[in-house]
Amino acid sequence: MKRSRINEILREGDEFIRSFGFQLPPFAYWSPDQMRDQRSAISGILNARLGWDITDYGQGDFDKLGLFLFTLRNGSQEDLKRGGGMCYAEKIMISRHDQISPMHRHIVKAEDIINRGGAALALKMFTSDRDGNLDHDADVVVATDGIQRRLKAGDVLELWPGESVTLMPGNWHAFWGEGGDVLIGEVSAVNDDLTDNIFEDPIGRFAEIDEDKDPIHLLVSDYEKWLGNS
Ligand SMILES: [Fe+2]
Repeated sequence: MKRSRINEILREGDEFIRSFGFQLPPFAYWSPDQMRDQRSAISGILNARLGWDITDYGQGDFDKLGLFLFTLRNGSQEDLKRGGGMCYAEKIMISRHDQISPMHRHIVKAEDIINRGGAALALKMFTSDRDGNLDHDADVVVATDGIQRRLKAGDVLELWPGESVTLMPGNWHAFWGEGGDVLIGEVSAVNDDLTDNIFEDPIGRFAEIDEDKDPIHLLVSDYEKWLGNS
């Protein structure tokens, strides 16, 4: 993706989020220079990979296959392993009209996917077979706002504003905005996007960036390159 396009998506995404009365934390608006100047004070942001995350899954067609995310909080893997402490994470996301987040599952992370406003959120669902592959036959059992539901393999679940689904590790899911753009919340277990996303098709998790302009804000995937190892 061109950096100029990423800058545009950040601006449009921020405006969309604000239109629902939701606001991002202050560090969202720091410039790359401001982040560099405060490098020693922000290891909590960098290590937890908090911040902007715009992805076209490496496929170069963001409007068709892509997702806007902002990681608001993310706990520690050590806490998760020892079973106490900050074991949770939260993201805010935007799926545009018919913009697909491709079929995937997680190994560790359970996640509640919440329609926070806008159009309907459609999720195509499958369960895993014994090897963890997508099962084209078996029913999928998920909880929507605490109520268990049984879906046929490949059924599309529609969530309207206020509704949510709990996806457990092994629940395969792809999602998109149905009939319009949708603001999505994610409340989950500690999240490691470098290792915990298994895609059905061989695609990447992050965008490759063509630096045609300066970034207005860094993406989480820029931190290492722009700010060095923490
Ligand atoms: Fe997911």
